[in-house]
Amino acid sequence: KTKPQVDEHSKDRQLESFRENPQDQYMTTDQGVRINHTDDSLKAGSRGPLVMEDFHFREKMTHFDHESIPERVVHARGSGAHGYFQPYNDSMKEYTKAKFLTDPSSKTPVFVRFSTVVGSRGSADTVRDVRGFATKFYTEEGNYDLVGNNIPVFFIQDANKFADLVHSIKPDPDNEIPQASAAHDTFWDFASLMPEINHMIMWVLSDRAIPRSFRMMDGFGVHTFRFINEAGKSRFVKFHWRPMLGAHSLVWDEAQKLAGKDPDWLRRDLWDAIEMGDYPEFELSVQIVEEEDEFKFDFDLLDATKIIPEELVPRKPIGKMVLNRNPDNFFAETEQVAFHPGNLVPGIDVTNDPLLQGRLFSYIDTQINRFSSANFGEVPINRPVTTVHNHQGAGFMRQTINKGKANYWPNSIGGGCPMMAPENQGAFVHHMERVEGHKIRARSESFNDHYSQATLFWNSMTATEKKHIIKAAHFELGKVESEEIRRRMVGHFSKVSKELAQKVAEGIGVDVPENFNQESTGHYEANEASQKMKKGQS
Ligand code: HEM
Repeated sequence: KTKPQVDEHSKDRQLESFRENPQDQYMTTDQGVRINHTDDSLKAGSRGPLVMEDFHFREKMTHFDHESIPERVVHARGSGAHGYFQPYNDSMKEYTKAKFLTDPSSKTPVFVRFSTVVGSRGSADTVRDVRGFATKFYTEEGNYDLVGNNIPVFFIQDANKFADLVHSIKPDPDNEIPQASAAHDTFWDFASLMPEINHMIMWVLSDRAIPRSFRMMDGFGVHTFRFINEAGKSRFVKFHWRPMLGAHSLVWDEAQKLAGKDPDWLRRDLWDAIEMGDYPEFELSVQIVEEEDEFKFDFDLLDATKIIPEELVPRKPIGKMVLNRNPDNFFAETEQVAFHPGNLVPGIDVTNDPLLQGRLFSYIDTQINRFSSANFGEVPINRPVTTVHNHQGAGFMRQTINKGKANYWPNSIGGGCPMMAPENQGAFVHHMERVEGHKIRARSESFNDHYSQATLFWNSMTATEKKHIIKAAHFELGKVESEEIRRRMVGHFSKVSKELAQKVAEGIGVDVPENFNQESTGHYEANEASQKMKKGQS
């Protein structure tokens, strides 16, 4: 019943038992039988056909034939690193009971995977895209995953639009040509019809979407989460990672040249820095909002297309993460790591953000596809450093050998069966939020302002940064064949900033449409149900 002592090296000690050290060993088959010759297959005569009984050839070939697993449906290209996280002090005790965030003497092992989103596993690192910043904390209370991005807002507000978003931005379905010609049309077509995307579009056209290095990139939890303290009090929280080296970007010309000359630019930079002992460091901080202040903002805290401006809620620093070891094996660690925003530990919980709620379903679902099994949690990189006991003892590639007859609960016949943990023994108890309402397929009216924060972002840019955004829009929208789509996008820009719309329009051969309104995109038909609700007609 005792929890393990987690220190900086606990995950590494666990991984050590899975590592293979073949120096000074004879080569063997998977059955451990020593091999004397692996350059030729067994033949009927030196110029004759291969014979079926060659178990060594069959095993070697079969293994190779099955070496790949489906790449991630998004964030396929990534780079991983090991390290640790340590809080500066116990100041978070007031807000959360999550021990790894409140005990300054603890160093919690972490594995981080940075990624691009759209490209396939072999795509270039320096493309204009969002970057993933996913962290697995191997805490003494189980795994906690902070599955974030380097941009603090998202394209859409509801998870039901995710498949549409990704389809629009991935290579075309007929010829799989990425971003060649029509792909620009598909994404911008979608974007121009989804006003909620506008804040994110400003970030994506900015230099944030072409980071100079994974070591020089912010990270954000994006959604509003909850902190729960020892007394059970809940508060809203937004997570931020800040690189100690500061956030830096490439310029577009560099990004394009690097995509040709060194498509592994970000991957190599991270690897080399760690090899040289120049360890990337990131500070974790949080914005905290009291529950009673939930409705005091002019945006909805549950809307993932909004930030909480730091002028309204300053960040509180928690501690520092240091990435100090490269993986031993890309496939075993970086490819097989499986993050999930629903991997929570006591003290951290989710909110009703409809994007986050949908993610809670999607990650395990896709990972079962990726690993062809629900047992991917047993893969070394995914194992918690805490022990795992339950009755989930079967399925493809099961590693653990559960003992006894009782693989059900409750049982009275024993046999290595678990007990239930009370809350004061570290059990995760979901925050008791009161929920009621009509069952309704609709968007809250409080999610309807799609331009104010886009304008806020634009106004916060320096003259050079504004120039980069306009040039990026010229590059991207200049490739869109449809004049209607280009004009619609300029229409949205006109609601962000007249100057922005005018300058973009000049570069892509359209006029700024007069009196553009978002309703003309047709998106709001979907909100018919919520209008009804408002009028009490449900
Ligand atoms: C990866 C779904 C929004 C960050 C993934 C994967 C899926 C997915 C299916 C592949 C996972 C795997 O194969 O292991 C979704 C859905 C979303 C959504 C349905 C919205 C409804 C977001 C948001 C963020 C985010 C808002 C950032 C806050 C990431 C990251 C990865 C990822 C960082 C890569 C994890 C890794 O390195 O393995 N997402 N995602 N996603 N997602 Fe999302």
